[in-house]
This record gives sequence, structure tokens and C-alpha cells, in this order.
Amino acid sequence: MDALEVIKKRISCRAFSGEDIEREKIEKLIACIERINEKAGLHFQIYTGLTKDESVVKLAKTMFDGKVYWYAALVGGEDEISAEKVGYYGEELVLLATSLGLGTCWVGGTFDKKSVSPQIEPGEKLWDVIPIGYPAKKMPMKQRIIRDGLRKKTPAPEKMVEGDTEYKDLPEWVKAGLQAILDGPSAVNRLPVHLVCEKNNYFLKIYKENGGFEWNDLGIAKYQFWYAANALDVHGEWEWGSGGEFQIKAQQIEDLYQ
Ligand SMILES: Cc1cc2nc3c(=O)[nH]c(=O)nc-3n(C[C@H](O)[C@H](O)[C@H](O)COP(=O)(O)O)c2cc1C
Repeated sequence: MDALEVIKKRISCRAFSGEDIEREKIEKLIACIERINEKAGLHFQIYTGLTKDESVVKLAKTMFDGKVYWYAALVGGEDEISAEKVGYYGEELVLLATSLGLGTCWVGGTFDKKSVSPQIEPGEKLWDVIPIGYPAKKMPMKQRIIRDGLRKKTPAPEKMVEGDTEYKDLPEWVKAGLQAILDGPSAVNRLPVHLVCEKNNYFLKIYKENGGFEWNDLGIAKYQFWYAANALDVHGEWEWGSGGEFQIKAQQIEDLYQ
């Protein structure tokens, strides 16, 4: 699967088959979490249950179906930039799991917090859990209705752009980045971010609140954009923060804008 296929393939999986995940895939997820914690100062963890009698995390029965035996606990600092990093690096983990054929769902609200007990140090909080497992072979009707209902609200890309350039005039790699943001997850699919375009520079900002998840959403959107741009050979790094700039590596700029 190439990177743009991974982006299209990822959806919020709310129906799991209960099939075991192979050890080598779990090891890749563990290695990814270790890398993230080291470079970003986060405290992500991955857990499995002791028995297969019940799921390792209690997800709301009104939304989810099937048992899930692995989950990631996205623990990080309580401040806004930590929340953004949770989003950014949580999405790195989600897209890795997707590339391994696994299903995931960002879950910030619809789970029983008492059913999990990750390590949380002073100054940290559990932002979200990510159940990880093989998706059900066929998505049940209920989960299809939930997803279709949420996805109906996805805005047109033209509505996501501010600044001195209209959507139609954006370079293809920026359009691909924006499409990846639209295809990506956000709490209740509210996508509370706008891409600001000024003189061929690109900034991503929060333009509305989203129930306390807007900083997670900002980080997720930045990772989705980065991932798509990278797939099209445009290599850059986002500055952290609302309004942070996508800084293209210097040697590339001339090639892109000549
Ligand atoms: C920070 C965050 C929190 C979320 N919390 C929940 C949740 O509690 N329950 C749930 O079913 N989905 C949750 N979602 C998934 C969103 O509803 C989903 O990403 C959005 O509707 C877009 O659909 P898609 O991911 O299938 O493309 C969350 C997503 C994000 C990014």
C-alpha cells in the first residue's frame, strides 16, 4: 500500500473481528510508540488483556461491535501543545496500524474510563484510547450508518482555505495535503482547522473549538498533510501551535516555485 492508499484506507473502525494480531505487527507498533515517546516526550502505551473473555477496553456498545484485545493509551501533558503532539503522533501510530492492515479508531469519549488504567504521571492525562484489531469482514449496518452520518458533514476543500490564494490556484501537493486532512479523523468529524495560504506559505490554524479535542484535531491534520505531501516528494516540517507554518526543506523551495 502506498502512502496515499493508506490515507484512503483509514477509517474509524467500530466493528472488530476478534482475530489475533500477529506478534511481528505488535512489535512494529511497540517500536513506533517507543520512538514517539523518545522524540516527542509523550507517554503513549500499548496494552492487551489477560484473557479473551472480554475486550481490553470497554467501548460504548451503542457505537462499537466485536471484541478488541489491544489498545493504545494516548497519554501526554495537559497543555495545548502536548495535546497537539498527541494528535500528530497518535496519527502516525494510526497510519502505521492501517498500513499493517489493522483497524483503529480514535476514541476520546465513548469508552468507560474505569475499564483502563494506563500509567499517568503528574501533569499528564489520558487524552484518547485507540482500540487496535482486525476489522470485521463486513461492516455491520449500524456502524455504516454511524460513519455515514458523521461523514455527511465533511466540508468541501474550498471551505477549508483562507488567505490570498483560492483553492483552485493551490499547487497539487497542497491540494493533496488538504484532501488528506479532509479524509483524516477529527472528533465528531468537525474538522476545526483551516489552511491559511499567504504568498506560497502555508499555515494551519484552529478556527473553532471542538469540545476540548481541537488541539488533538490540529495535530492529526498536520500529520495527515505532512504524510500526503511527503508521498508527493515535498518534504517539510510543521511548526507547532495554531497558525504554525509548514516549512519546506530549503533545497526544495526553488524546484517547487519556479
Ligand atoms: C480526537 C478524536 C476523538 C474521537 N472520539 C471518538 C469517540 O469517542 N467515539 C467514536 O466513536 N469516534 C470518535 N472519534 C472518531 C471520529 O468520529 C471520526 O474520526 C470522524 O467521524 C471521521 O470519520 P472517519 O474517521 O471514519 O473518517 C474521534 C476522533 C478524534 C480525532
